Amino acid sequence: MEKISLNFDWQFSYNGLTKNVHLPHPGVELPISNFNIDDLLKQFTYEKTIEFVDEDMNKHLSLRFEGIHHIACVYFNDELIHVHRGGYTPFEFEIKPIVGQNKLKVLVDSRENPSIPPFGGIVDYLGYAGIYREVYLIKRPKNHIINIHVKYENTLENDDVKFQIKTNATKGVLNASIYDQDENMVLCNDEIVTDYETEIQFHIPNKKLWAIESPYLYTLKLEYEGATYFERFGFRDAVFKNDGFYLNGKKTKIMGLNRHQSYPYVGNAMPKGAQREDADLLKSLGLNMVRTAHYPQSTHFLNRCDEIGLLVFTEIPGWQHIGDEEWQAESLKNLESMIVRDRNHPSVVLWGVRINESNDHHDFYQKTNDLARRLDPMRQTGGVRNMQHSEFLEDVYTYNDFYHEGNNRGLLRKKQVIKDAPYLVSEYNGHMYPTKTYDDEPKRIEHAKRHLNVLNQMKDPNNKLSGSIGWCFSDYQTHNEFGSGDGICHHGVLDIYRNHKIASYVYMAEGSKEVVMHVSSNLIMGDYPKGNLNEVYVFTNVDYIKLYRNAKYVKTFYPSKNKYKYLKHPPIIIDDFIGELIEKNEGFSVKDSEIAKKILKDVQKYGTKMPLKTKLRVLYILRKYKLTMDQGVSLFYKYLSNWGSKQSDYRFDGYINDHFVKSVTKSMYRTFDYELIPTRKVLNIGDTYDSTRVVIKKVDQNSEIAPYAFDPVEIYVENLELVGPKLQSLNNGLLAFWVKTINPGTGKIVVKINDKFYETEVEVYES
Ligand code: GAL
Repeated sequence: MEKISLNFDWQFSYNGLTKNVHLPHPGVELPISNFNIDDLLKQFTYEKTIEFVDEDMNKHLSLRFEGIHHIACVYFNDELIHVHRGGYTPFEFEIKPIVGQNKLKVLVDSRENPSIPPFGGIVDYLGYAGIYREVYLIKRPKNHIINIHVKYENTLENDDVKFQIKTNATKGVLNASIYDQDENMVLCNDEIVTDYETEIQFHIPNKKLWAIESPYLYTLKLEYEGATYFERFGFRDAVFKNDGFYLNGKKTKIMGLNRHQSYPYVGNAMPKGAQREDADLLKSLGLNMVRTAHYPQSTHFLNRCDEIGLLVFTEIPGWQHIGDEEWQAESLKNLESMIVRDRNHPSVVLWGVRINESNDHHDFYQKTNDLARRLDPMRQTGGVRNMQHSEFLEDVYTYNDFYHEGNNRGLLRKKQVIKDAPYLVSEYNGHMYPTKTYDDEPKRIEHAKRHLNVLNQMKDPNNKLSGSIGWCFSDYQTHNEFGSGDGICHHGVLDIYRNHKIASYVYMAEGSKEVVMHVSSNLIMGDYPKGNLNEVYVFTNVDYIKLYRNAKYVKTFYPSKNKYKYLKHPPIIIDDFIGELIEKNEGFSVKDSEIAKKILKDVQKYGTKMPLKTKLRVLYILRKYKLTMDQGVSLFYKYLSNWGSKQSDYRFDGYINDHFVKSVTKSMYRTFDYELIPTRKVLNIGDTYDSTRVVIKKVDQNSEIAPYAFDPVEIYVENLELVGPKLQSLNNGLLAFWVKTINPGTGKIVVKINDKFYETEVEVYES
């Protein structure tokens, strides 16, 4: 089988203008915020000529479109040959070309047609536009394989695997071989095709399992009638039970986030490289699951999830609204297409067969469940709802639990939502506390604490909960009925540029294998009401932190197990910035230095209106250490900085197994510089252009991000295309943009900030 890219050089026409474009293509580029949604709701034409030679005429030829928003009418040599409705599923059909040049034209209707999911009601995400995924010409012999379904059961006890192979012919010899991850052949077999469906069975003893920590992949190679086909797969046993989720027999708490597939400016139109970077980013947050809210996402994304061990809960397009019978029929087609496309991915462990947060609909959901079970008996079904005890036709009760409001329980008890069923929380937080990267520090920390509270509750080993998937990975553009008035739902633990909010470190601390030590505060009291900055949360997986103030040791702090008892890595809360300093510097006894600390805290809290008990303590200390009132007051300024007083420098040294692993310094007096960091330095032009994310940071001398920096940035690229405008601004010290490849060679990225230039290079290859 030959899969030929048709992604380069389409003639794109809109509004009387025609230009040359490559796929994925967004149809329309939207500003990052404050845009007009009507700009997306357009119709476009994409045209291309494809050349065929004599020998192609002996082949079966088809066109495969991975995804078009939302209705595509495909014309081949001026004849309408295929119509596809639905913006999230692939479609493929046979063509009968002539030798020489053939005309391909696709009329794309990106309007939100109420007769196809997800439209018809209001939707909290944008539908976007264009031929936003790749297009291929597929050449196969006349007799060929149509699809391959990898099947196994009880893989922990049973070493059999079956490949169900659909062909368009009833004869021929199928040669099948299995390769391990190092490309060594494990087994091979010949089978005679006697029907349109042939099943080949292999026995693989001592096979390696696909797991979160070690995602082992095998490849099936099939040779049939002169063509070769490859299918990657993995062995894993994934089952949601009444008391939790089990992966390969091991109870595993799911810690995930929901992902929308949109990117700044280009909406959903991003190629392989950028899709894979998102999967890597999710994994780097220490997560073990992603939910593809609320539609099937790019195959490139799923492939990467397979490779890095990130579980996937994927679902059909929709948002609260269920349409009429025609609409439901489209939804069933979406479900079939999603399952047929994605069922060989070991990372996919659950099918979402309900429209996200829709009401019960017995007949429709009976059909979706039946269809999913017929197409894939290996996987369980879920269906995301926001109702407790709604009709349960699925295998797993997947529920959006927005109960947490900051001071109450993190999650509802399982029995309040559903009894005696496997249970997974599919969303929490989100709109309950929208938070921008440029909100003030107390708000961003509160956002992080809410994620922390839910995670802590989720991790209770006795709660019979499979886990939870938070809302959400990154901020996303949305319809006017949602968001902050700027067209953005600021619900992510990352912002729309995939830059970290504080909340992201809650996940990293709990799940990452790297050393994580994020001091959530800049220790600048002026950012706090009344200057009251009493405690600092450090999101970390270190064992303890030694705090130094102006280079003098203060105290050692440990994870706050009492407050967050279910977390593996509770935050370390720094709530004493004086520690043993008074004792050491002023010669106070240990007991008296504790009394002095209490006095200072009360002064900070009550000012001169302190309680009588505190006043008596003041008298006691002044008398015992022969201090005047002025000397006493100066202690306050020395140890508890106040509004307008000189701030101290703080150094946090983290230790694991008594070995120093990381240091963070927060200083008041700072010098600044900028860093320019591409996610990947090596890019590849393959089936289409490549794209990578580039971050700009304004950092101080300690590599800490400069707070509330909104510096204007001019971006220049050479041998690359910039996604978005040339002139942008930092958002709270950070910005990211994407670049796309044009030609092989060196690509240059230069940014100009405050008349200084910063530059970096990427190498672009062609394969
Ligand atoms: C849910 C919905 C999500 C998103 C979220 C915001 O109700 O399923 O798509 O809108 O709320 O918190």
